[in-house]
Amino acid sequence: MRAIQVTEYVKGPEELKISTLPDPVPKSDEYLIAIHATATNFFDLLQIRGKYQSQPPFPWISGSEFSGVITKAPSSLPGGRAPKFKVGDKVFGASQGGYATQVAAPEDRLRPMPRGWSFFDAAGVFVTGPTSYAALVTRAGIKKGDWVLVHAAAGGVGLAAVQIAKAFGATVIATAGTQHKLDVARSFGADHAIDYRQSDWPEKVKKLTPKGRGVDIVYDPVGLIGQSMKCIAWNGRLLVIGFAAGDIEKMATNRILLKNVSVVGLHWGAYSINEPEAIEKVWEGLYELTESGKYRGTCFTDKEYVGLESVPAALQALGGRESWGKVVVKIPQEGQSKI
Ligand SMILES: NC(=O)c1ccc[n+]([C@@H]2O[C@H](COP(=O)([O-])OP(=O)(O)OC[C@H]3O[C@@H](n4cnc5c(N)ncnc54)[C@H](OP(=O)(O)O)[C@@H]3O)[C@@H](O)[C@H]2O)c1
Repeated sequence: MRAIQVTEYVKGPEELKISTLPDPVPKSDEYLIAIHATATNFFDLLQIRGKYQSQPPFPWISGSEFSGVITKAPSSLPGGRAPKFKVGDKVFGASQGGYATQVAAPEDRLRPMPRGWSFFDAAGVFVTGPTSYAALVTRAGIKKGDWVLVHAAAGGVGLAAVQIAKAFGATVIATAGTQHKLDVARSFGADHAIDYRQSDWPEKVKKLTPKGRGVDIVYDPVGLIGQSMKCIAWNGRLLVIGFAAGDIEKMATNRILLKNVSVVGLHWGAYSINEPEAIEKVWEGLYELTESGKYRGTCFTDKEYVGLESVPAALQALGGRESWGKVVVKIPQEGQSKI
C-alpha cells in the first residue's frame, strides 16, 4: 500500500513523504479497510511534530479519520460474536494510520456509511458529529426554543453543532473570524452570524435574544467561556469543547454563582472508557438526523484535495485557519487514476 509514514518528527506537513509499504496485517479482531477518503485533524499536525498526547513508537503512519470499504473481516471476535460488517460494506471511522490507502481498525472504531452519503462526506463525521451531539443533547439538554451561541461555527465541530442545534428547534447565533466563514455558518442553518474579531460581540449576541436575556447554551471550541458569561441567560449552560485559540482559560467561579449558570465539559473520546453505553445512543440520534436530512456532510469545498500527495497541502490549509468545516482528501484506490 501507499502511506505517509513518519520515521522522525517533522517541523511541518511540507516535510511529509509518501512511501510504498507492506499492506497492514489486521489483528484477529480487526477489519482491513481500503481507504477512499481521509480527513485532517489538528491533532495530526501535533502528532507529526511529536507534540500530541499519543505518540506511537517509530515508524508509524500518520492520519486518523477515514472512510472506505471493508476488504477483510475479523477472523475471531470476543465471545465468538459475529462481525457487524462484511467484506464490501462501506464504513467510516478513525484509527491510527488514516493517511494511507489501507488501514486496520477494530469494530468500535467503525460506523456504517449513512445512506446516500459519499465517501468524501462520511470521512469527516466520526469525531465532529458525535462530539457536538453529545455536548448539546446529552450534556446541555438542548430543547426547542433554546437560543444557542456556537463559537467558531464554521469549524469542524462548529458546523456540526449548528446543524444539530437547528434540528432540535433552537435559534442559532454563530460566531466566526471572517465574512466567508460567517456566510458558511449561515448556509448550514445559523439564524444570525457575528464576527467575533469585534470586541463588542457579547453585547451584539445579547441584543439579538428576546428582551436581551442572553443565550441558553454556549458551545465553545475556542476558549471564550469568560467572555461568553456576558451574554448567557439565567440557568444557561456553557459547554467547554476545546481551546482552538491556544490558551486555557481561568475564571472566577463567583461569576458562575451570580449568573446561576453551569459550566459543562465534554470529552467525547473518553466515553469509550468511562461510559461506553452512552455512545450508541449518541450515534442513533445522529443517524436519525442524517436520515431525515437534518444533518449533512461539512467538507471544505473551496479547494479539492486528491491523493496522498495533497495531504500536506490539506494540513497546511487546516493549520493556517484558511479552511472551514472538515478538510478531506479523496484517496483514489491503487491502480485507479486520480481524476
Ligand atoms: N471535547 C471534545 O471531545 C472534542 C472533540 C473534538 C474536537 N475538540 C476540540 O475542538 C476544537 C475545534 O476542533 P475542530 O475540529 O472544529 O477544529 P477546526 O475545524 O480547526 O476549527 C477550529 C476553529 O477555531 C477557530 N479559531 C479561533 N482561534 C483560533 C486560532 N488561534 N487558531 C486556529 N483556529 C482558531 C477557527 O475559526 P475562525 O477562523 O472563524 O476563528 C477555526 O475554524 C479543538 O480544540 C479540538 O481539539 C474537542
